[in-house]
Amino acid sequence: MRKYFVLFVSVSILLLLGACSNASSASGDGHNMILAHNHPTDHPVHKSLEKFKEEVEKRSDGEMTMTLYANGQLGDEREVIELTQTGAVDVTKVSAGALESFRPEYSIFGLPYLFEDTDEFKEKMSDPEITDVIYNSSEDIGFVGLTYFDAGSRSLYTRDRVVEDTEDMSGLKVRVQPSATSVAMIDALGGTPTPMAYGEVYTSLQSGIIDAAENNLTSLVSSKHGEVADHWMYTEHAIVPDMLIMNKHRLTEAQRQIIRESADAANAFHEVVWNDATEAAAEEAQNEMGVEFHEVDKSSFIESVQPLHDEMKADETMGPIYELFKGGDSDEES
Ligand code: GCU
Repeated sequence: MRKYFVLFVSVSILLLLGACSNASSASGDGHNMILAHNHPTDHPVHKSLEKFKEEVEKRSDGEMTMTLYANGQLGDEREVIELTQTGAVDVTKVSAGALESFRPEYSIFGLPYLFEDTDEFKEKMSDPEITDVIYNSSEDIGFVGLTYFDAGSRSLYTRDRVVEDTEDMSGLKVRVQPSATSVAMIDALGGTPTPMAYGEVYTSLQSGIIDAAENNLTSLVSSKHGEVADHWMYTEHAIVPDMLIMNKHRLTEAQRQIIRESADAANAFHEVVWNDATEAAAEEAQNEMGVEFHEVDKSSFIESVQPLHDEMKADETMGPIYELFKGGDSDEES
């Protein structure tokens, strides 16, 4: 109840701020920009966002300024995307998984075992012919993508069950992101998907509303999920990036250029901090939180999700996107 009250008050303040921010954007000054995200301030993504703010302010000689609202203060991912559409929030960092219900193009990232490994993922994400299609797909609904932050690969973690193959998934209630692709994935793997906002995962695991979740290694530590989950299985089933998106409001072309260059600088900075943070998280989860880590034979997982690939390939909107990401990988390439 209290949470909703706090949220209501924050959103009301923001709508007021938003009215002002829109007014200032209308004059094209880019002052007092608001950036929202749902990670704590010691998370590597927050550090990369601080770098983004610093670059924007430096490159504009202080003409453009930005305030960061971390910890989901302005709402869960769905809510801040909506606030970004209206312009009450200027820039938001959300998972690609949360963007899927706004634009189907983002569902490509939720498709399990799409990429062989992180190298393949990064290679595709460094090709503007691919990323521009994704980033610009939401222009008509009020926002555009600026860059992505590597969020590693996602794996399964449970309160108390060790999962060795898909047979062990039966009856397992797994929290997934509010995304149709994630729901379909857990269904295909034989578990019971439970979509919910990220901020609710800790208490839901703790109270047993869910048996499991799936995410990257930093979640164990930064959101303390390692306190309420005993086992981590290296299923590495999806590489779902974090996305930086911006309201498509009326900044000048010069300001937009500053934003784009600053986003690129933040992306490069993130590359450096992310891997160290992930390794440190794994160590802390194992040594201080008592999480047990297990390798799994991924073959039954990969096999179970093949129908999802076939469906996506056959889909009118998603077929071409699938082809963009995977087309060059066929044997005819050489
Ligand atoms: C990642 C991502 C978050 C997202 C979360 C989730 O941790 O960085 O932005 O909210 O996954 O599973 O919802």
